[in-house]
Amino acid sequence: MTTRIVLLALLAVALAAPDAAAQGSINVICSVQQEWCTLIAATFQKETGIRVAITQKGSGEALAQVAAEKTNPKLDVWFGGTGDPHLQAAEQDLTQPYKSKHLAELHPWAQRQAEMSGHKTVGIYAGALGFGYNTELLAKKKLPAPACWKDLLRPELRDDIQMANPNSSGTAYTAIATLVQLMGEDQAFAYLKDLHKNISAYPKSGVGPVKAAARGETAVSVSFIHDVPGEALAGFPVKSATPCEGTGYEIGSLSIVKGARNLKDAKTFVDWALTPSAQKLGAEAKQYQLPSHKATPVHALVPDLSKIKLIEYDFVKYGKSAERRRLIGRWDREIGSQPR
Ligand code: F6P
Repeated sequence: MTTRIVLLALLAVALAAPDAAAQGSINVICSVQQEWCTLIAATFQKETGIRVAITQKGSGEALAQVAAEKTNPKLDVWFGGTGDPHLQAAEQDLTQPYKSKHLAELHPWAQRQAEMSGHKTVGIYAGALGFGYNTELLAKKKLPAPACWKDLLRPELRDDIQMANPNSSGTAYTAIATLVQLMGEDQAFAYLKDLHKNISAYPKSGVGPVKAAARGETAVSVSFIHDVPGEALAGFPVKSATPCEGTGYEIGSLSIVKGARNLKDAKTFVDWALTPSAQKLGAEAKQYQLPSHKATPVHALVPDLSKIKLIEYDFVKYGKSAERRRLIGRWDREIGSQPR
């Protein structure tokens, strides 16, 4: 009798608290800043009961990991990071087509990203490339804020600019592709060669340079400008500008890994990540990209893209793997490996 009561009690406990396996779990690689990654993992888990194991890596590094695990995928979802590597993953058949029920509610640029990839990726945010600069360091040097790409070549900025390394960083790849589209390829590489003299470091991560500018370790950074307000809010003397000649932009993207072991839960995550309530977590984590769902509230600190001179960024061309390999290879040979 007692044994039966104990067994029934155990059964009741088991039913009331479904075990972890029944709730499911997903492995996510995340290419936005850590605070946003942590917040989406915790919130999704709380709302759905699906556990999330999340690791943060830059866009180029995330692409390399997804490619390396092609025959034995350990990841289910790739959240965020610049759109070109997501398109390259789609082209290399590393990601899985999925049409979310929220697709039609997204801005046209986010839907276009999905169409271009055969629905293997989708836009979750957009943001423009520009400069971050430390107002105190520039004042000390008696230099005006950089307003144009050509201003970055001033001799007074010698060893005082940072741009990320395009092998690991989608931000830096966007910068190279932008300059090539603005100037033509040979001119762009001549510019990058001149710029190289003023570069003190090419950090791995796209946000590395703006964090360095904020902390007074470098005067200027080549950065997505939505990464600047978070640093200013933290109390650092940093501002942003967008180049007078025009600039490129990213369509931050979201993909399901091909062969995902937790496909059903990965789809639940994608549907969730495209909702306004999930998208507003970006601004709550002090990251100010423009969200892709039309109904997501746009925080006052999100840069107004309609006021920026944006180029017609050719995502088809620069989203191709061969183009990425070629441009980064040329950058490695002609710029990255050269003494300054
Ligand atoms: O806020 C982080 C961010 O600027 C994203 O907008 C962008 O997609 C990502 O960084 C790119 O990171 P990385 O250059 O390291 O690939």
